[in-house]
Amino acid sequence: MPRSTWKPCRDAIRIAPSLLAADFGQIAKAAHDLEESGAERIHVDVMDGVFVPNFTFGIETVRVLKRVTALPLELHLMIVNPDAHLSTFATAGADAITVHYEVCPNLHRTLSSIRALDCRSGAAINPSTPATMLDDILESCDLALVMTIDPGFGGQALIPRTLRKVEHIRREVERQGLDTEVEVDGGVDATNAKACVDAGADVLVAGTAVFRHPGGPKGGVEALQQAVAGPGAQ
Ligand code: DX5
Ligand code: ZN
Repeated sequence: MPRSTWKPCRDAIRIAPSLLAADFGQIAKAAHDLEESGAERIHVDVMDGVFVPNFTFGIETVRVLKRVTALPLELHLMIVNPDAHLSTFATAGADAITVHYEVCPNLHRTLSSIRALDCRSGAAINPSTPATMLDDILESCDLALVMTIDPGFGGQALIPRTLRKVEHIRREVERQGLDTEVEVDGGVDATNAKACVDAGADVLVAGTAVFRHPGGPKGGVEALQQAVAGPGAQ
């Protein structure tokens, strides 16, 4: 799929499994499993050991993923100075690139650069960053990502207060007449997915809830879809 043609399907909540919870020794298999699962995209967490105290995937993993899957690749860059690497990640196969507000002093320029590379542009905020920080940049965002945990590690519990920020951003997206996606990332599982959607999220990132589900990634994605569809839905 050429990057520029990816248009997220808007008639359902999108599940974006995070490979952070997959077996790193079998990344290609994880991607294949997701193709069968009903996931709409793959969320790839890139960490640099500076912005967050952990390391994960880099350029080479993105190249491998591009080779083995047709699912769109959404990169979540938890790195300082992302501008220096945007074009490399785009060439490697990114369909969307999300950068953090906290490390982008010229966020408008960064998001414009991402779009110029034919990728969907995303801006993320940490739990301690007020949602209003994105108000004046939303029109440059194809995606607004609210971290519902402190970034760096999977398997943490969602911080309930962050959902108020989802509500704010959803209101702002509507008020400004934008089609920016609102995404939540961190600690999302079948017990809180509905609350995330009710707050205004339309993309749910989930690592642990997908890859550690007893029914495998397919079971995990289905459980999330059922949770947001509510009781009685099939
Ligand atoms: C953490 C990452 C998340 C994380 C989600 O910094 O951005 O994408 O992998 O994993 P869970 O769903 O386990 O919280
Ligand atoms: Zn992430």
